[in-house]
Amino acid sequence: MRALSWPNQSVKGQVTATIHQMITCSAPGKVYLFGEHAVVYGQPAIACAVERRVFTSVKLLASGEITVSAMGKIQNCHSTEFRYICQAVQTFKKRTKNDFGAEITIKSELPPSQGLGSSAAVTVSTIKALSECLGIGLRDQEIAGMGHQVEHAIQGRASPADTFVSATGGVVFIEGTKTSHLMHPDVPIIIGATGITRSTGDVINSVARMKRDYPEIINNIMSTIGDITRLGERKLIGGDINNVGELMNINQGLLESIGVGDIMLDKLIYRARDEGALGAKMTGAGRGGCMFAIAREGNVNAIAEALAREGAQVFITAFSNAGLRVE
Ligand code: MEV
Repeated sequence: MRALSWPNQSVKGQVTATIHQMITCSAPGKVYLFGEHAVVYGQPAIACAVERRVFTSVKLLASGEITVSAMGKIQNCHSTEFRYICQAVQTFKKRTKNDFGAEITIKSELPPSQGLGSSAAVTVSTIKALSECLGIGLRDQEIAGMGHQVEHAIQGRASPADTFVSATGGVVFIEGTKTSHLMHPDVPIIIGATGITRSTGDVINSVARMKRDYPEIINNIMSTIGDITRLGERKLIGGDINNVGELMNINQGLLESIGVGDIMLDKLIYRARDEGALGAKMTGAGRGGCMFAIAREGNVNAIAEALAREGAQVFITAFSNAGLRVE
C-alpha cells in the first residue's frame, strides 16, 4: 500500500492526479416501494431515492489518522462507532492501494438506522468524497459496488439495492445484478419515523432464521413479494398510481408475516390509509424505523398531521433523480 505524503503526491495508477485538501459529497436516502428483504434472496425490488441527503466532508490529514465527526461525537476508527464509515475507508484504501489520514465530517438530513438508507448514503458519499479528494474519479456504479461490500461485511448479508439507489438516484428496479431506472411517479411522499432504531443485520438474521425453519412457507412469501414488485414495475410504467398504492399495501401485509412489523409502524400505516393515502408501508429492515405513504396532493397535510398526532417525526418529501453529488 502506498502512503500519501501530503501535499505533493501522485496517486497509484495516475501520474498527475489532482489532490484536493477538502471535498464535500452527498448522497440521497431512499424508500422501498416494493421488495425489501425479498431482494436479499434474489427477488426484485424497487427502491427510490428521496430528496433528503447525507453530506460527507473529507479533509486529508498528514497524520495518517482517520477521525469521524457525526451526531455530535468525534471518534477515530479504533472505536466501534461509525462502522459503515470506517469500513468504507478501509474498502477504499484496499481497492485504490493508497494509505492516508482524513478528517471525515457527516451532516445528515436522515434519521439514522430507521430504514431510510442513511447507512448506504453515508457509505457511498464517504467513498465518493475520498475518491474526489484523491483525484481518483471512481464511477458512481463502482462506488455502489464498493458500498455493497461494506454493507455485506457489516451486516453479514446485504443486497446491492440500498447502495445502488443511493449512488445513482432515481427509481430503480433491481434484480440480482440487473438494474434499470424507471420514471418516478409524480406524487408526494409522507414519511413517518417511529424513532425506534434497530440493527439491519439483526433483522435480516431473524428473517434468515424463519426461512431456515419454514422454508416452504417463507420461500413462497418471498417469491410473492417478487411478483408484487414485477407487477408494481408494470403499473409504474403505465402510470397506474392507484394500483401502485394498493400493491404497496399488499407488500406490507407480507412483510408483517415475516416478522419485521411493529405496532407503532402499524398505527402510522393505518392512520395514513384512513386519511386517504394511496398506499402506505414500512421501508427498509423494519421492526421500527420508518413507514411512508404516497398520496394525492390534497391529502398530504391531513396524513402528515395524523402521523404527527401519533408521535411520529414527519417528513414531506418527493422522489429524486439525483444520486451522488459533489457539493
Ligand atoms: C434494508 O434497507 C433493506 C433490506 O432488504 C436489506 C438489504 O437489501 O440489504 C432489509
